[in-house]
Amino acid sequence: MSSSAQLSVLISKEALEARISEMAKQIDSDLNGESVLLIGVLKGSIHFLSDLGRSLASDTEIDFLQTSSYHGGKSSTGIVQIRKDLDINIEDLNVIIVEDIVDTGITLSHLRELLSTRKPKSLKVAALLSKEGSRKVHPKVEYIGFDIPNEFVVGYGLDYEERYRNLPYIAILREE
Ligand code: IMP
Repeated sequence: MSSSAQLSVLISKEALEARISEMAKQIDSDLNGESVLLIGVLKGSIHFLSDLGRSLASDTEIDFLQTSSYHGGKSSTGIVQIRKDLDINIEDLNVIIVEDIVDTGITLSHLRELLSTRKPKSLKVAALLSKEGSRKVHPKVEYIGFDIPNEFVVGYGLDYEERYRNLPYIAILREE
């Protein structure tokens, strides 16, 4: 893939910054002075979590979990495993799951179900990207950054076989 891959910018660095700052304002307003725990889903959410977290005015804690369902390729296996669980007990906390992208919806649906059994005060989801057209299940997503077409994207945390996560923008990855 490396020699024959073609990247075309879909969402610029400036557009990401502007939208994430809007999302943070909405989240602050909904929190209404209460504190929040952001749960970053590793590894794809790293930059989004970092930028969103720094844009929030609310009292914010951060934790991470890691799932695995894609095994490095471009299509989902549909099997979700927890590779790294949370350090923090989320009971009675306002929790926002911070995801890079919702594609089939399978990962998020599993996470919502799992975390709701731990009795948080509230449980919401902030996803930077959503591919509405490829959903197999329909978990609730309270905050969506951008609706994108059903294309494989990389950059700003998202990878193809661990590459491209460091790009400051989102790009469509196509084989030539
Ligand atoms: P879902 O379970 O199909 O919704 O997939 C969720 C996970 O698949 C995301 O958190 C990503 O890690 C990965 N994923 C889905 N679509 C893409 C993509 O276009 N590029 C890179 N990773 C993706």
